Amino acid sequence: MSKPTILSTRPLFPEARAILDRYFEVDYWQPSERISRGELLKRVADKEALVCLLTEKVDDELLSNASKLRIAATVSVGFDNMDVAACTKHKVVATNTPGVLDDTTADFAWTLLMALGRRVLEGDAWIRSGTWPGWDLDQLLGGDVWGKTLGIMGFGRIGRGVARRAQGFQMRILYSDAVRAPAEVEKDLNAEFVDRDRLFRESDFISLHVPLLPDTRHLISKENLGKMKATAFLINTSRGPVVDEAALADALERKKIAGAALDVFEAEPKVHPALVARKDVILTPHIASASVDTRTKMAVMAANNLVALFEGKRPPNALNADALGLK
Ligand code: GLV
Repeated sequence: MSKPTILSTRPLFPEARAILDRYFEVDYWQPSERISRGELLKRVADKEALVCLLTEKVDDELLSNASKLRIAATVSVGFDNMDVAACTKHKVVATNTPGVLDDTTADFAWTLLMALGRRVLEGDAWIRSGTWPGWDLDQLLGGDVWGKTLGIMGFGRIGRGVARRAQGFQMRILYSDAVRAPAEVEKDLNAEFVDRDRLFRESDFISLHVPLLPDTRHLISKENLGKMKATAFLINTSRGPVVDEAALADALERKKIAGAALDVFEAEPKVHPALVARKDVILTPHIASASVDTRTKMAVMAANNLVALFEGKRPPNALNADALGLK
């Protein structure tokens, strides 16, 4: 019997390929440059499944163009690249990769937090410039991390991982979320549920862990930046459009806050030029989950979702399982 045909917009990793190649006839996009929209639409047209990345939109246009498609699996936890309602309309299962990247992403939020507060990149650049004159009392004074107030926006798995890591730094932890965490989680993580307003006003570090939704788009606005302490730092490892980059650049310029570390951007791969020019900003290229182990697990998870569907089972990470009535 011939194997179902699928498109993978990346060659993935050997562990995931081993799973896919056993069950499917896979068209892997091999070139190192990203697949163009036109090529994606062309190649997906006759496929039964798609493995894609967060940079590829799975929308009504793509789905209308792929009448045999049964599943679209994004290798990411965030799925704002997928129109899940349109997937449901076209009877396509949409899956993502939750859970496996939480700790790696929380580690990275902490990497940025520490590097930002203690001005690590500025120090590195100074030494490399050959102009560092040697130790002095008032060089590159940063903000303490230990004992300060950490504000976590979005208290899901990743936000809680960030709070867990803060315990060793004797921090006061505030969090805001649409849903309050169970009392035992609050107690365990020593975290206090507050409204957004208090979180903005009282935090020394604010770390963002919200999904991109209408309510969180430009959550970091001119108005909310204006509520923050002048000594506070902002860390974003969630989604770029949660931050209004122009408002952030302006707030930094006017010394409304002390610095920002951004792993995600409003219009990737573009970054607001006023942020690029600033020393009080750390920029990283959307790598919060980028460890060998974690990215491998994400690709394997996507592959396993495809296998489950074609074996007649409910894909474990189906986002529209109920809407499609999957058992
Ligand atoms: C990365 O940003 C992801 O959503 O997995």
